Amino acid sequence: MAVSKVGVVGGGLMGHGITQICAQAGWDVVMREVDDDKVAGCVGKIEKQLARAVEKGRMEADEAESVRGRIEATTDYGALADCDLVIEAITEDLGMKLEMWKEVDSIVKEEAYFATNTSSLAVIDQAASTSRPDRFLGLHFFNPAQVMPLLEVVQTVTTSDDALKVGFEVGEKLGKTMVHAKDKTGFIVNRLLVPYMLDAIRAYEEGVGSIEEIDVAMKAGANHPMGPLTLADFVGLDTLASIGSVMFDEYRERRFAAPPTLRKMVAAGWYGRKSGKGFYHYSGEKPVPTELGL
Ligand SMILES: NC(=O)c1ccc[n+]([C@@H]2O[C@H](COP(=O)([O-])OP(=O)(O)OC[C@H]3O[C@@H](n4cnc5c(N)ncnc54)[C@H](O)[C@@H]3O)[C@@H](O)[C@H]2O)c1
Repeated sequence: MAVSKVGVVGGGLMGHGITQICAQAGWDVVMREVDDDKVAGCVGKIEKQLARAVEKGRMEADEAESVRGRIEATTDYGALADCDLVIEAITEDLGMKLEMWKEVDSIVKEEAYFATNTSSLAVIDQAASTSRPDRFLGLHFFNPAQVMPLLEVVQTVTTSDDALKVGFEVGEKLGKTMVHAKDKTGFIVNRLLVPYMLDAIRAYEEGVGSIEEIDVAMKAGANHPMGPLTLADFVGLDTLASIGSVMFDEYRERRFAAPPTLRKMVAAGWYGRKSGKGFYHYSGEKPVPTELGL
């Protein structure tokens, strides 16, 4: 089945980006969020990005208008009914995702495909909760979805060859660089990247270096575009902690366990860039390291 209408559930950091790139690829997109404020937040972010693209000469004004016109943003699950593909990008919590699929599965047409953008949960647990585990796969985008080239196309034990093919066709239309990943917690990128970020937090706890020194060291010494603590703020500390805890549960290895500092920062509501404070403060012109008092 050819995809012409895409549903995106969740309009946060990832969901708004996925909504935007799908609309830019020419598909009609229905984005579902939990309340009107969240819907407005998602649409506002997309409109800002489109306006910036026009301002910088990367997009014509009428093209930006058509992209915006292809997006329907709503709190109504019912609007997803005739989507050919539904991609979920809601909070990284299996219970919440299963609840959401229960609603979506009962509403969306039988022949549609479902995909999860989870960073760490096993795809099979979501696939098996629906009536169409054969048409369920992982489509793991990276943040920001508008910029990052990679798409991990994840095949779980139930994913049919046809669904996998649809996943690759979708990635191709979006212009992504794709890798075929197996349904192993963390897939390829997070399996390697999450322990690295968590280890940077442990290095900070152990006094190996300050927040800035750790970031500067990895930028200048390993030629990384950003340091691991800046990257953690960018991913979202709540999301990083959830991913770490899921991976720790799965593998029982210390390298995946969230260090105490991360747990405390999340408890304090310091989620990184998206909440204005994490390892850095983001209220001024330049990020300033947070005094964590360790
Ligand atoms: N942050 C990253 O770098 C990153 C990268 C790749 C994948 N992911 C994955 O993408 C997913 C979303 O992460 P995020 O960083 O965008 O989180 P986020 O907290 O920015 O956004 C999650 C959004 O989901 C919404 N939501 C919750 N339940 C919902 C429901 N039933 N229906 C509609 N919306 C609902 C919330 O209101 C929130 O706006 C997670 O599974 C995460 O693991 C995150």
